[in-house]
Amino acid sequence: MAIDFDRIARERLPALLRAMPKAELHIHIEGSLEPELIFRLAQRNGVTLPYPSVDALRAAYAFTDLQSFLDIYYAGASVLLKEQDFFDMAWAYFEKAAADNVVHAELFFDPQTHTDRGVPFEVVIRGLHHACQRAHAELGLSASLILCFLRHLSEDAAMATLEQALPYRSHFIGVGLDSSERGHPPEKFARVFARCRELGLRIVAHAGEEGPPAYIVSALDVLKVERIDHGVRCVEDPALVERLAAERMPLTVCPLSNVKLCVFKTMAGHNLPALLAAGLVATVNSDDPAYFGGYLNENFVQAFAALPQLGPREAHTLARNSFEASFVAPSVREGWARQLDDVFAAAAAAT
Ligand code: HPA
Ligand code: ZN
Repeated sequence: MAIDFDRIARERLPALLRAMPKAELHIHIEGSLEPELIFRLAQRNGVTLPYPSVDALRAAYAFTDLQSFLDIYYAGASVLLKEQDFFDMAWAYFEKAAADNVVHAELFFDPQTHTDRGVPFEVVIRGLHHACQRAHAELGLSASLILCFLRHLSEDAAMATLEQALPYRSHFIGVGLDSSERGHPPEKFARVFARCRELGLRIVAHAGEEGPPAYIVSALDVLKVERIDHGVRCVEDPALVERLAAERMPLTVCPLSNVKLCVFKTMAGHNLPALLAAGLVATVNSDDPAYFGGYLNENFVQAFAALPQLGPREAHTLARNSFEASFVAPSVREGWARQLDDVFAAAAAAT
């Protein structure tokens, strides 16, 4: 049955955005660490923070670009030492995600941020994996892990991290590439991603957040990614936009992140409507919600409030895209897509 999107009034959009089932595909779990939890873990672990209070830490969250954020983000992660810490961090995210009607989440984690401080890889992955299992059992939320390599470090370091991860191969579904983008093009990691493909891992990479469209092209051609994280700078290369649309290559767009890190000056200037109008498989995600001012529903609500081109049809498309772009079996994601249709059909009938 076709959904009559025109029957859904604009004032009902925020409630619908919150209620609709959705998947989150771009969340750095270390970026969900709220200042309150940072302080609680610092106390529990005897770590001294360079900020006197929660408020002082939160006041430091004024970023000018990606690097200015990463410096604080890595400092925040320094309180994570024990398996329980990683569990507590992920569990706090899952409770918020479930409240946002997230039915499926694919979580990035940055093992090198922890192993380089002497925290064993197995401590990180055991805590996160346990939280994923409990999210499924207790919240009905399906969750999986994607291991990200830090691109400001060497390819040899990434390869060593992959080796450490292999005993836990069943605990993560894929690999990604994050951290400082400019000056660290995807091709720097050609060999390690080739090895990951041989191992049957799913492949994603951040590209075209601050870096040029050429980084998106090399993520596709060299790393052979199945999704592009961010990718918003693709619009600078019309041939690339055409290719991304033709290949139905998903982009995991993060609206609040882009505004906080000054990729766009304002939400009203974000190119999400243009990406959808070009036929791209865009999705909405929170990136680092504790640092950027909101979790997934807040990203939807603020983007739709600032961008009048986005209405009920686009809300449905973005949620449907999140299921299409996820790494779950077609039978499962089609079930979620049917639930989504039901929510919109009910909203159209109720108006
Ligand atoms: N970009 C790159 N690396 C990151 C980000 C991001 O937005 N968040 C956490 N690591
Ligand atoms: Zn990111």
